[in-house]
Amino acid sequence: MPFPAHFHFGASTSAYQIEGAVNEDGRKPSIWDEFAHKSGRIKDNSTGDVACDHYHRWREDVDLIRSLGHNAYRFSIAWPRVIPNGRGAVNAKGLDFYDQLVDRLLENGIAPYATLYHWDLPMGLHTQGGWLNRETCHAFADYAAVVAQRLGDRVYGYATFNEPRCSATVGYLEGRHAPGEMDQAKALQVAHHLMLAHGLGMQALRVNTSKARLGVVLDVKPYHAADNSAASRQAAYNAYGVFNRWFMDPMFLGHYPQDIWEGYGAAVPTVQAGDLATICQPIDSLGINYYSRGHVAHSAAKAFPHAAEVRCATSSFSDMGWEIWPDGLREMLVRIHQDYRVPDIYIAENGAAMDDVLEDGQVHDPVRRNYLESHIAAVAQARDSGVPVSAYLAWSLLDNYEWGHGYTRRFGICYVDYPTQQRIPKDSALWLRDFIASQGAQP
Ligand code: NOJ
Repeated sequence: MPFPAHFHFGASTSAYQIEGAVNEDGRKPSIWDEFAHKSGRIKDNSTGDVACDHYHRWREDVDLIRSLGHNAYRFSIAWPRVIPNGRGAVNAKGLDFYDQLVDRLLENGIAPYATLYHWDLPMGLHTQGGWLNRETCHAFADYAAVVAQRLGDRVYGYATFNEPRCSATVGYLEGRHAPGEMDQAKALQVAHHLMLAHGLGMQALRVNTSKARLGVVLDVKPYHAADNSAASRQAAYNAYGVFNRWFMDPMFLGHYPQDIWEGYGAAVPTVQAGDLATICQPIDSLGINYYSRGHVAHSAAKAFPHAAEVRCATSSFSDMGWEIWPDGLREMLVRIHQDYRVPDIYIAENGAAMDDVLEDGQVHDPVRRNYLESHIAAVAQARDSGVPVSAYLAWSLLDNYEWGHGYTRRFGICYVDYPTQQRIPKDSALWLRDFIASQGAQP
């Protein structure tokens, strides 16, 4: 049994992807409501208006989590429920929802992991510049304090942000996520502000908690050169820096990576005196989201880091087209431990979208099952080589709203039959349940 009984096993979700009930109990729109409704950029033109209807079905969903033997659950708190305008009046009903959810999780022996920002910026702040406006960082810290004052140490682990890289890059450079802009300089300024907000948020959480484990969730990815040329090896090195070091170096070392800073040229962000000291707050635990590796060759036609994805002919791929590469999880855990020595790491997300079919009340998803098994084995290997890893949380508990892909991608270990909102544990969920039991997991 490679995992100790106190190791956390469970699954993750996020507010906009599962809750629905977007106009209920005082919630106001976020940038994702706006983007999904107006842009026509969602594959199936769908929105999160109903999603998995979790806002009404959360009790049953906690029962489901329990029935799967999980001893942890990661969800996100919707800022537009708690402080509907982003700043100012606190909505008691918004806080009540998460308060009850946390209590029910605890009653069932499930450790709550709460993320404060999983991409749903209140429109009230976006219309004033959103993440391009430094003031938003202070609004985030105020929101973090409000949540921590209410939920306190009942939450096992708080994360300030989920994947700030993705918010900045996919939202402001690639334009595929809200708010749909395509501008490198804006993306880097937003990334800087997200990190600054993380630092200010950490300070607010520290003051208002004593036992809860505080940190952030970052998406991480190793990059390998697709050929042995010096140019491709350099591209892979730089792509790693853009994806990973751009965020981890400021947060854990207190400076931007100089080589990548130079690579960005004139697009680099405005940084005020003291910002990096604020960003570099001690954390208790780092959550990482791992899905795939990058496999790249040099391409002069592409902007810095001049890296073009090359599909590896011998690999298999998920329904997202993402290469399945379990050893990359071990590689990243070992590397993060060596480079940053954060006190603890947990897997906040790991999983695969598959073309699942419901047949006679069952979903056979052997590829996902193997995906989970091989990635959990990679975590065990990293632990064997001395990396302090404390939890493995699969993405996701439920099939849900996969952002720009709408409902066309299924990441759940439980199938959601959207017309009836029935949840059906897939074979992978049943395998995970049995695996968790075999490790003797304790609440
Ligand atoms: C990471 C994000 O945090 C989550 O919201 C998303 O659904 C998964 N990746 C899969 O793309």
